Amino acid sequence: MDKLARKLVSLGDRFIAKNGHRKFHLEAAKLLSENNFCSVYSLDQLRSLSFKKNIESIQNYRAFEFSDLPLTLARGEDCFLDLYVWRRRPTVIHNHHFVGAFQCLEGSNVDLSFSFKAKKKLGSFHSLGDLKLEETRKVDAGVIVPIDLQDKFIHQNHHHHDLTVNLCFRTPDISGKRIANFLYSGLRYEKDPVTLARTERIFRLLKLGPLDLKKLNLSADDALSFLIQAYGINSDNSAFQAAKEFFSLKVRKEFKLNLEDLLDEHESQIDLIQANYN
Ligand SMILES: [Fe+2]
Repeated sequence: MDKLARKLVSLGDRFIAKNGHRKFHLEAAKLLSENNFCSVYSLDQLRSLSFKKNIESIQNYRAFEFSDLPLTLARGEDCFLDLYVWRRRPTVIHNHHFVGAFQCLEGSNVDLSFSFKAKKKLGSFHSLGDLKLEETRKVDAGVIVPIDLQDKFIHQNHHHHDLTVNLCFRTPDISGKRIANFLYSGLRYEKDPVTLARTERIFRLLKLGPLDLKKLNLSADDALSFLIQAYGINSDNSAFQAAKEFFSLKVRKEFKLNLEDLLDEHESQIDLIQANYN
């Protein structure tokens, strides 16, 4: 496993050094199909590899940052090979700020791919549009799926077994690109690190006491990001309730939009999906 991981990464590096990363999703899929990783994979070996010498220095994700267990197996200059272990559950609908391909090694995925047509821009990192389901495919052990950049590949992966393990052959995050999540009701929101940090700061300040939001230099993105994250939080904190009011009003005024309705619509779809997992 270890040896093949290093071989794939060095082949990937060679390709990217010559061609750049634009077509790497196709090359990664080709390299995965030419090198049969399924034949060397075992969960037992994965457990041992997680503690091999120097493994810490090549990790891309921290434990639980992505999937139920992420593990970087090998890292090159311009690409790396990750394993993601999933318990039975769906991901959110998302795109990617990297390119590559994934292959199921164990378990089963049902992969839903979508297209998105933006209709209205809301701030810099949010937009409204039509999200359409384009394809549903079963991704069992051995099946490979290319991951193209951003909205060229939008998907939701349903991990259908108690344990699903996917291999992901990918570039690092591409500079200046942000991952986006999508609501069934058509809201697209980019995970901009600065906006996320500002939202976190608002939440922390609200815990410290009342906050006069009118006096702060808050943008439409701040309002939308706060409301998305505040959705479903039941809190008696009056500062939190006032902030929710304030931001809802700001969004209603600026965009003639009731974000709560969009979030409710999305949530009812999620409830239907969750029912299949219970
Ligand atoms: Fe994904």
